[in-house]
Amino acid sequence: MPARDPHRFVNELDEAAIERLIARLEGRAKDVVFTRLFDKYAGHISPGESAHVLEVGCGTGAMTRSLARRGDFSGRAVGVDQSHPFIEAARRFAAEHGVGDRVDFRVGDAHDLDFPDATFDAAFAHTLISHVTDPQAVLREMVRVVRPGGIVAIFDGDYSSMTYAMPDHDLGHRMDVALTTAAFNNPHIMRDLPRLMPQLGLQLQQAWGDAVVEIGTASYFKSFAETYAPYIIKSGMFSAEAVDAWLAAQHQAMAEGSFFAACNYYTYLATRL
Ligand SMILES: C[S@@+](CC[C@H](N)C(=O)[O-])C[C@H]1O[C@@H](n2cnc3c(N)ncnc32)[C@H](O)[C@@H]1O
Repeated sequence: MPARDPHRFVNELDEAAIERLIARLEGRAKDVVFTRLFDKYAGHISPGESAHVLEVGCGTGAMTRSLARRGDFSGRAVGVDQSHPFIEAARRFAAEHGVGDRVDFRVGDAHDLDFPDATFDAAFAHTLISHVTDPQAVLREMVRVVRPGGIVAIFDGDYSSMTYAMPDHDLGHRMDVALTTAAFNNPHIMRDLPRLMPQLGLQLQQAWGDAVVEIGTASYFKSFAETYAPYIIKSGMFSAEAVDAWLAAQHQAMAEGSFFAACNYYTYLATRL
């Protein structure tokens, strides 16, 4: 079977796989390695008092909740995701975290957003664009639902830069490629955005990169490897034995303090022309 990005085909996964992804998204949202990256741009996506902000591909709503909890946020945030179980979880978690009155979660397709033109002051996509079927169509929809002068923010990994150390460099590189091919429909998309944004009616205002690196110990990359390595086996790119051996080598490196993994992440802040 060819590689099938689990977040792109989330509606085809069984209940156990959905529960694992919910745990991964919620766990990642508590990981300081990762939360600092959202915090770096969150202040830019709630322009003014009572801003109306959309998160496209909100998953379990962790970033929408995080925005709603900020002291400088006085508006309303709406999260849209294609997965019914994710949206049910998002509503439950928002109520549990006491932000249910400031957020609203809806099932919907990022390629065909069910909102009139110019509904929002800002729209953001946090690790969505690498997963979707047609990134340009999604960007076009984000531009459409944001008012002229409003903000479109895209954050994601440049997953073709993701790497885990292995003593056998060639095997390590091939496993990196297999892992990113299995987990992401568009592993190169963040490199394309500076070219695509102007064509889609967006003026880039700011962009920056962050390297996420774990050396010695691992939390973010441990969960990443454990969640997505099984999809390499499903895709047939490596045998179960080879993937298990790779995962065992990563766990051994964590136990010995010799672990190394890294990936570059990018933030693009643009305005709708
Ligand atoms: C890696 S998760 C990110 C979730 C959330 N933004 C976060 O950072 O916690 C990617 C999300 O994109 C959603 N997604 C993928 N394709 C989509 C589409 N066409 N329309 C709506 N959501 C989509 C998946 O269901 C999944 O929840």
